Amino acid sequence: MRRHYPVARVLVTRRLPFPSLERLPAAGHDVQTWPGELPPSARELRDAIRDSEGLLCLLTERVDDEVLDAAPHLRAVAVMAVGTDNVDLEACRRRGIPVGNTPGVLTEATADLAFALLLAAARKLPDAAAAIPAGAWLTWEPAAFLGADVHGATLGIVGYGRIGQAVARRANGFDMRVLTTRDTELTALLAAADFVTLHVPLTEATRHLVDTDFLNRMKPTAILVNTSRGGVIDQPALIAALNAKTIAGAALDVTDPEPLPADDPLLNVPNLLVVPHIGSATRSTRARMAELAVDNLLAGLAGEPMPHGVGGTTS
Ligand code: GLV
Repeated sequence: MRRHYPVARVLVTRRLPFPSLERLPAAGHDVQTWPGELPPSARELRDAIRDSEGLLCLLTERVDDEVLDAAPHLRAVAVMAVGTDNVDLEACRRRGIPVGNTPGVLTEATADLAFALLLAAARKLPDAAAAIPAGAWLTWEPAAFLGADVHGATLGIVGYGRIGQAVARRANGFDMRVLTTRDTELTALLAAADFVTLHVPLTEATRHLVDTDFLNRMKPTAILVNTSRGGVIDQPALIAALNAKTIAGAALDVTDPEPLPADDPLLNVPNLLVVPHIGSATRSTRARMAELAVDNLLAGLAGEPMPHGVGGTTS
């Protein structure tokens, strides 16, 4: 028998070109899609959400007390991301609003990107690629663009959840020695690792986990990779460490803030590669994330447990 969903007004905060979005109007819901190319500002979100019962948002929207106060009818929030640090989960819990995320489906794509960053930084791909259009490739150079070996090196994985474990599987294929914060004390891991890759969620406990002390404990030859959240790194400390060559390099998919302004001091340091938060950016992964977000929203609006609920209030 087909499940009957009560009709609800739903706000989707970006135009999402994925087939699963069609399931919202197909279920009878009245969908309002934010029309902008850019996310709504806090004020625009408060205005847009006023009548909404369901919210499908991205990691670019802050869903805090003020937004929730502006949305008296809201009864389900689906975030199209695994990280939910942009949502005040406690404020949602207090109001009995379930929140869902999209775990699992982006694990492999994000691990692929972490490894791509690690390889690119180790082998100096950005500088090497830039040399060609700049006309700086004059001959095969015995001592130019010398990078670090990845095979046989030691990888330190900070945060050993789904994505950390997926990175470890890739590292095994490269004959790397893998240390993780599950089996090795952090300071010992940092002292031994040639590459350190971050896979912790952003929480009050992990904010600025990578500070001056953390960086000082890394080897001067080591490279830091971050595909988690920008706030896990104290960026001024990283800038100082790269300038002082306390570590050899860093490759970041995430920064604080996002987007990073083109004149941010971070972009002026040596041996740094930054890409614009593309960890889950494969066609199939983003489509699966949209599918899970829609699953969560439909369940939440129907008063059923969200298949991927977070923060204690799942229905
Ligand atoms: C991406 O960063 C996500 O949390 O899904």
